[in-house]
Amino acid sequence: MKVVTESLFQLPEVEVSEKKMKVPATLIGVFQDEIKDSPYIKEISRKFPIYDRLEKAGFKGKEGDFFDIDISPDERIAFVGLGKKDEKNPIKKENIRRASALGLVNLRSKGFDTVQILGFENYEREALEGAFLGLYEFRKYKDTREQKSKEKGSNDETESEKKKDIKKIYLITDRKINNLVSYVRILCEAQNFARDIVNEPGNVINPLTLSEIASAIAEKYGLGCEIFDIEEIKKMGMGGVVAVGQGSAIPPKFVHLWWKPDKKPKDKVAFIGKAITFDSGGLSLKPQQSMVTMKLDKSGACSVLAAMKVIAQIKPDIEVHGIFAACENMPSGTAQRPDDIIKAMDGKTIEVVNTDAEGRLTLVDAIIFASRLGVSKIVDLATLTGACMVALGEYTAGVMGNSEDFAWFITNLGRELGEKMWILPFDKDLDEKLKSDFAFIKNVGDGYGGAITAGMFMAKFVPENIEWVHIDIAGPAFVTKKIGYFYAKGGTGFGVRTLVELTRKIEEGEYQKQKNNKKQKSNKN
Ligand code: BES
Ligand code: ZN
Ligand code: ZN
Repeated sequence: MKVVTESLFQLPEVEVSEKKMKVPATLIGVFQDEIKDSPYIKEISRKFPIYDRLEKAGFKGKEGDFFDIDISPDERIAFVGLGKKDEKNPIKKENIRRASALGLVNLRSKGFDTVQILGFENYEREALEGAFLGLYEFRKYKDTREQKSKEKGSNDETESEKKKDIKKIYLITDRKINNLVSYVRILCEAQNFARDIVNEPGNVINPLTLSEIASAIAEKYGLGCEIFDIEEIKKMGMGGVVAVGQGSAIPPKFVHLWWKPDKKPKDKVAFIGKAITFDSGGLSLKPQQSMVTMKLDKSGACSVLAAMKVIAQIKPDIEVHGIFAACENMPSGTAQRPDDIIKAMDGKTIEVVNTDAEGRLTLVDAIIFASRLGVSKIVDLATLTGACMVALGEYTAGVMGNSEDFAWFITNLGRELGEKMWILPFDKDLDEKLKSDFAFIKNVGDGYGGAITAGMFMAKFVPENIEWVHIDIAGPAFVTKKIGYFYAKGGTGFGVRTLVELTRKIEEGEYQKQKNNKKQKSNKN
């Protein structure tokens, strides 16, 4: 595979303008029941009976509402509903992302390559996120545009039209937002890059090729990088990584990237991603249907890689480490067996009861490695358990850890950014499920609370002085049907935005501030 460091999907160019443009297609965002308040619609009404037409079409500005019409032979206007105006609710922002994506994807399918968007004032960030993430497609092995126009049974002439991309967006607003536009562009490009890598199958992305991508990113963006091969992994005592990787013909790679500011860093954090390039289950082989999509099991690492790429560009005053242990979980004559007892990097013994609970075995070695770098905080992203999807549905990540403050901080941040998360509680009474007759701990519980026991397993390897949050992204890392602004099936790049924003918040001292406030409050009580 050619080693890539950017998404194959070209983002449209964005130009911010205070004045409306004369372009063939216009997208207007309208809040629910505020059609009469829109100055843009009022302007159109002076030369076209637009109120009447909107009413006939039943367009009210509700979420999911879309209506488009030619108001003159060379002017198509599309309206998209933004839902109720309620600025405090984070879900409100999600409506904006979805509306922008819906409008642009529809206009693209009608062959427009240049669109101006109006009515998204104060929500420009979300409008752009909807555009950049919503228009994304993975076309490396199949041009989805061709497919879509064929499905619609269109004739040859319009087919070439429909293969067009949206190449240019004029964002109409009087706010000065050029920096914001560049930032959102970097962020969404990185998220789309993560999606590209997740979408690559196991015959393309394996521990070796994934580590090559990491090293190319480090090289291009100026990150520190060290990649350990199997001999070094063994020497460091990473028994979990060795055991999970030993069934594959392609040996594991342990990847460590870092960003260090020139000044003394304000804080040091580590981001860890699960990096199973394919999860067959190992000797505890998955049933046939469950194995399909298991190329997704490297999603955590892909998001960490993408976040590191952004961090290298925004250069925060904190030290950030990006870490993953890339392994392929395969059954073979050299694979680890159920009953095997292995030793993690800190010397603790683990009885492997189920080789399909492999992620946690690799993650604990990564956590121990990270904890020796002098970091105060660790966040891991992992497609860890099907149980998390049972608990929260496919679209919400499960958040756990040893610090409730940190876990809530991340959860609230993620939700603001359109990355849905919710806390799952550790429970001391579940501890006994992980007790082994032969080792310090075993790698699976009895099935109940499977997402939580997976988190509690990992917690046993986290030093007490480090704030650690684990985000189980088994559901939201990958979509098998269109949802929200994820029109393209496959990897979503879940977690990229949260990790990057978290870095910025920690840099700005926001998390510390919140913690101090809470302490002061509880001291008063
Ligand atoms: N990679 C899977 C988890 C997963 C399942 C991610 C479905 C995305 C969608 C993980 O390694 C796994 O197999 N977990 C097992 C754990 C069990 C053996 C305790 C599971 O969830 O069934
Ligand atoms: Zn597994
Ligand atoms: Zn897995």
